[in-house]
Amino acid sequence: MSQPSIFDSETALPSDNLAKREKTLLGFDQRYDRVHDQLRLLLNVGELDEWNKKHHGGTLGLCDLVAEQYPLVIFHGDVGTGKTAMAECIANRLVAEARSSDSMLFKLSNRVRGNGMVGEMGTLIAEAFRTVTKSVGKSRRAILIIDEGDSLAASRAQDHSHHEDKVAVNTLIQGIDDLRQYGGRIIVILCTNRLSVLDPALLRRAAIIETFARPSDAERQQLLQMDLAGLGLPQSQLVELTRLTGARDSRPAWTYSDIRTRLYPAALARAYPDRALSFADLSTVASTLHASPVMEDK
Ligand SMILES: Nc1ncnc2c1ncn2[C@@H]1O[C@H](COP(=O)(O)OP(=O)(O)O)[C@@H](O)[C@H]1O
Ligand SMILES: [Mg+2]
Repeated sequence: MSQPSIFDSETALPSDNLAKREKTLLGFDQRYDRVHDQLRLLLNVGELDEWNKKHHGGTLGLCDLVAEQYPLVIFHGDVGTGKTAMAECIANRLVAEARSSDSMLFKLSNRVRGNGMVGEMGTLIAEAFRTVTKSVGKSRRAILIIDEGDSLAASRAQDHSHHEDKVAVNTLIQGIDDLRQYGGRIIVILCTNRLSVLDPALLRRAAIIETFARPSDAERQQLLQMDLAGLGLPQSQLVELTRLTGARDSRPAWTYSDIRTRLYPAALARAYPDRALSFADLSTVASTLHASPVMEDK
């Protein structure tokens, strides 16, 4: 058997699959625009020199400061609020818009924590960064998603932080520092359920910190409308499903994944294979299941 990969997935970008997927994510365009606007300078530091020469005779010192930014983006929020899905689709769009072919998306998950992987966490993280930097050559791009990064990036100051954890965080920080020399061609998106456990040195380096929340009433209704379009439910029933998946009895509102990966399959299972899916299937499941608990510490 071959050595298990450090990465959960390696995807060539741009990807048709991800381009399709972004259309199923509510609020993708707004999220993308915000991240992109903030990353724009970082993504173009290579051209910043030219611009400085052209418009300021090369004398504008702050261009160097901008080039010192770290290519680190942090996504945080409850489980099931879309961090991973958005990270993948945003990575894809960044590459597509930069018109760079042969770019790669690497996804690292906390499997480096040892499940079947031989070696110390720090060594594995260093190896991951080596693979990513090697992949870009002289002109390509790469995006590294560090998914469920809580355990890899947890503060070195925590009481239970072991030596190996500290080494891992140091290696991660070092890796991100070294990425600056790639002029925005390599970006790291770190996803976490709990912002507060992240090491302060990592937080300080983040060019962007994006918060992900559970969908609002309006967003849940839009989601149901989009996903259940084929059923032709009247507005009143969509409103009822929106209510049933809302916060009630001191329980939080449902997350995107509560609705898409729990409500829909359970409702479908009631109808399939003998009859059509009905509003009753959906409302029955929605009244009996509960939203996943809140994870994020405030
Ligand atoms: N903005 C969104 N609009 C619609 N569905 C979403 C959105 N964000 C997430 N989802 C759905 O929820 C599921 C879980 O999302 P995921 O990205 O895995 O959450 P997280 O990484 O925050 O735990 C995905 O399968 C996706 O279909
Ligand atoms: Mg995730």
